[in-house]
Formats: sequence, C-alpha cells, structure tokens
Amino acid sequence: MKIGILTGGGDCPGLNAVIRAIVRKGVFHEKDQFVGFLEGWRGVLEDRRRPLDLEAVAGILPRGGTILRTSRTNPAKKDGGLERCIETLSKHGVEALIVLGGDDTQSVSQKLFERGIQVVAVPKTIDNDLGGTDLCFGFDTAVSIATEAIDRVHTTAEAHNRVIVVEVMGRDSGWIALYSGVAGGADVILIPERPFDIGAVAETLKRRHDRGIYFSIVVAAEGAKLGPGSGPITEGTKTDEFGHVRLGGIGNMLAAEIERRTGFETRAVVLGHIQRGGSPTAFDRMLATRYGIGAIDLVHEGGFGRMVALKGNHITSVPIAEAISHPRYVNKELIDVALSLLDRHEAA
Ligand code: F6P
Repeated sequence: MKIGILTGGGDCPGLNAVIRAIVRKGVFHEKDQFVGFLEGWRGVLEDRRRPLDLEAVAGILPRGGTILRTSRTNPAKKDGGLERCIETLSKHGVEALIVLGGDDTQSVSQKLFERGIQVVAVPKTIDNDLGGTDLCFGFDTAVSIATEAIDRVHTTAEAHNRVIVVEVMGRDSGWIALYSGVAGGADVILIPERPFDIGAVAETLKRRHDRGIYFSIVVAAEGAKLGPGSGPITEGTKTDEFGHVRLGGIGNMLAAEIERRTGFETRAVVLGHIQRGGSPTAFDRMLATRYGIGAIDLVHEGGFGRMVALKGNHITSVPIAEAISHPRYVNKELIDVALSLLDRHEAA
C-alpha cells in the first residue's frame, strides 16, 4: 500500500519515534511504501515531499522535533485548499494518509475523510489535552524538563529568600503545570481550569513567610486565568491559521504583582519551547512507538476516519470527530491531589 505521513501543529518529543515505528512495521510486515509530506498540511497543499524508507528512519528514535518538519498551515482556510490536497494525494497514488497532530491538524483530517480520503490520525499535543485518548507522547518529557527546572529554581529561591514564578506550557489545560508542580513540590499551582485570585495567591505566600519559610515556588500554566470570565494573557492579537492568539506573559505579570502585593523579591522563569525540544524520555519513546504501530495496524484494518488512542494501558481507536469535539481537561481527582498537599487556608 502507498501511505503518506505528515506531522502538523507544534512539535513534541516522540514524533520521530512514531514515524519510525510506522515505517518499520509497514515495510517489514506489509510491504508498504511511504511518502513523507513536509511541514504539515503545507506539504500536501504545495506537493512538497520526501521519501520515507528504512534508511530515512534509521537513527531517528531518540531525536526530538520531526524529520518531516511541521507548520500550522490550514488548507481549509485557503481557496480550494482541501481540493488541492486531494489532488496531490491522488497524483502520487497515496491510498492512505497518517496524520500526526492535535485538534487543529486533525480537524483538517476529518474534513478530508468526509471528502473520501482514507485518513488515520495519531494524537499529538505537548499540552496533553486532546480528547479521546488518555495520554499523549511528549507530555512525559515536558513534565520531566519542567520538574527539573522547578527543582533547580527551588535551591536558588531558597538561597535568596525569593518567590520564583515558573511559567509552563498549557493553553487550555494545566496538565504540565499540575504534574510538574506536584512533582516539583510547588507552593502554588495555577491552571486554566481553575481561574485564580491574585489576592489569594499573595496571601498564601505571606502566610508561608509568617510560618518562617522565606521562599516560594509558583507554577503557572501559560493559559491560567485571572478570575472567572477573564481570558488568558496574550502576546499581541495576531492569530494563527486556526484562529489562536499567541499566549505568554502570565509569569512576568504574576511576578510583578506578587512583589507589589507582598514586598517579597520575585522573579519569573519562562520555560517556553525548552519543554518541547530535545530527546524524548524512554516512556515517551515507548508510547510513541505503540501509537505508530497502532496507526499502521489501523490502516491495514481499514479503520479510516479514526484516531489511535490510549485507554487505560491499551491501544485502541476512536473516531477523529469524537477526539476533536472537546479538549480533555485536568480532572477533579488530580486537582484534589494538588490541593490536599496544601494547608486548607493556603490553597489559592
Ligand atoms: O499547543 C501546544 C503549544 O505548545 C501551546 O502550549 C503553546 O501555547 C503553543 O503551542 C506555542 O506555539 P508556538 O510553537 O507556535 O510558539
């Protein structure tokens, strides 16, 4: 079978491990041929490709990023964009397309599936918030990096009697903030699911000082919101092709506001793309490999219009339409874990 592969949206560690698993199983067990479309949907739209054979995937398992590169191109936003994608696929005799991406990228997969393209989706989001699956590869790596950063700022915060705010990724959901915050022993964790009151945060930090602890660590997801009804803090107003504005600034805003309200010297650290770069953890390499095998198996079972999914510890699949219908938020049980570790009066 001739199969196309593309990676769309923000990158994350493990994309290459998925590609490698798909190609190895496809070539060794099914005699498939592969074509890699470059830079997400842009490659299909503009017919930009590279061959994908055993040699092309050799040595890529531990590599971050994606050998196919990526973009946030949205063919549905271009005149005749979806039709141009269909033309490219048919011109090269591509019988099935495996798309690695998050909800935006997979919204295009669904549109093409509805127009007759045999698409299989692989879930990808560093934020870990795609519906339909329990866990995305790359998340474990991001949490490990963020936790290490929190451990490191802990010692310098303590040495200087400072508050340090660590801003981590998490547009709509606070998975990275909650996991790294709990794993790193943060004193305040702010996530989009639970709009916060800056006054309460300042009070929490003051109470720690009253108890004789002169440093604090605050972990904030980039999408955390100041009170119900308010939106996240953004950098400008420019949107990408899927309508998202760039987030950023909560860390610096919080640091200034905490210092103003408490008088404690405060610094902000923005982890940004460090969380998405570099080599995947062993856990993510394994998970990515399972997703890749799941995807090629789904193609040969004819499971088109479906996304490979992890439910519990089993690889299964769900309709793409279901996966993209709603994000997966941090659940109450995990929020309660974080809250249980705090003095009830200190839970900002
Ligand atoms: O959607 C994943 C994500 O990492 C978000 O957490 C973040 O807001 C965004 O991508 C960053 O996008 P970019 O790589 O375009 O700066």
